[in-house]
Amino acid sequence: MAATQNPGRQIKLGFILHGVGPGWGDWRHPDAQPTASTDFQFYKRQAQVAEAGKFDFLFVADSVYITEKSSPHYLNRFEPLTILSALAGATNNIGLVATLTVSYSEPFNVARQFASLDHISGGRAGWNVVTSWLEGSAANYSREKHYAHDVRYRLAGEYLDVVQGLWDSWEDDALTFNKASGEFFDPAKLHTLNHKGEFFSVKGPLNISRSPQGQPVIFQAGASEDGKNFAAQRADAIFVSHEELDAAQAYYKDVKARAAGFGRDPDQLHILPSARPVVGRTPEEAEAKYQELINLVSIENALSMLGRPFNDYDFSPHDLDGPFPREAFTYGANSNLSASQKVLAAIEAEDLTLRQVALRFATPRGHFVGTPEQVADSLQNWFEARGSDGFVLFESLPGQLELFVELVVPILQARGVYRRDYDGPTFRENLGLDYPVNRYASRLEAAE
Ligand SMILES: Cc1cc2nc3c(=O)[nH]c(=O)nc-3n(C[C@H](O)[C@H](O)[C@H](O)COP(=O)(O)O)c2cc1C
Repeated sequence: MAATQNPGRQIKLGFILHGVGPGWGDWRHPDAQPTASTDFQFYKRQAQVAEAGKFDFLFVADSVYITEKSSPHYLNRFEPLTILSALAGATNNIGLVATLTVSYSEPFNVARQFASLDHISGGRAGWNVVTSWLEGSAANYSREKHYAHDVRYRLAGEYLDVVQGLWDSWEDDALTFNKASGEFFDPAKLHTLNHKGEFFSVKGPLNISRSPQGQPVIFQAGASEDGKNFAAQRADAIFVSHEELDAAQAYYKDVKARAAGFGRDPDQLHILPSARPVVGRTPEEAEAKYQELINLVSIENALSMLGRPFNDYDFSPHDLDGPFPREAFTYGANSNLSASQKVLAAIEAEDLTLRQVALRFATPRGHFVGTPEQVADSLQNWFEARGSDGFVLFESLPGQLELFVELVVPILQARGVYRRDYDGPTFRENLGLDYPVNRYASRLEAAE
């Protein structure tokens, strides 16, 4: 494939830190380190390799509820803000995106935590705003019930209003530190939120100054109607999952149009599907590695993975070679609606058995298996065909991140579709996002 047809537009790349790996069986690979998920040195090495590859950001997923059926990656893991705060000190340019649920946290705490990470990292914090899909989470937070799907998004909107309002408590130059006069801050530039809404009552102000990015970057990963509207209106970047380019293009077009409908510049919203490259130096080597990946997944693992978007539904009592048990959709509706709908679409299109559904969803082949040139071609193709603005990469097998940085990144750079160096010190600058002017300062400017 030739150089870019879209001069100036460049692929954005994130790397998802997964410790032992995203799947159930990854830790069993001969080169896997089973203790990786709580090994700071492992995380630090991966963060530094991703930064050497000029990645835009590191991403940490999260969940606040486990059962004995959860995947190893969820069973044993770092709390996202804690590990990213530590990685801030081990890196210089790469963005740091933490997942944190609005259903089980308080906006005042969360505003402080992300503002702190933004200061600690010199302006590299991002927040993946999730609502949590596992009903059992309620039992870890002294609550009887998980919020219903529509309530979760209403709550998320108000929550974000509060957090972003708190982040503007101090105007950029509010802290004057005037030793001669004794003025620590200018009282006219400190603002009290006084929020009273359906879910939250938060007075403010926040007890930390405005952070280097003005406001940390907002990520979102919802894919239902409510989720897409929320993302189109509020997010700076969307993390999404698509098997096929046509689905990715349809989603891209839809969400960018929604963003424009909300009065936003669609270029200020990055749509980033996940990609799990399997890179080999030859096509045969890539195929052999993909086989290694498939061999790590047993049918038991595949059933557990399938259960996740259905509120950890237990598929094991059902006949593997019988039809997909439709009663599971009852659990998908208030859990991960969009993922369960993908299953529904698949079984309505083809007559699939439970075994076939489980194996198909456990190790989708995707479009990124091949030589470095083939993988670069596919990524560039998705990007130029407007299926994405970039990707969030999963490491499919141990050592794949290094191979990607060593072999695929230089190809993308030579084609002019990927940066050779960081654009600036903050995550926002690297994503090409505008600096958010403090709402109180902008009101003042408008009045002048
Ligand atoms: C690629 C991707 C990554 C996600 N990562 C997380 C996560 O780390 N933690 C979490 O609670 N939810 C995560 N989600 C779930 C979403 O927040 C959301 O619940 C899910 O996409 C269902 O969307 P919906 O609620 O709009 O139906 C992720 C979703 C996608 C597509």
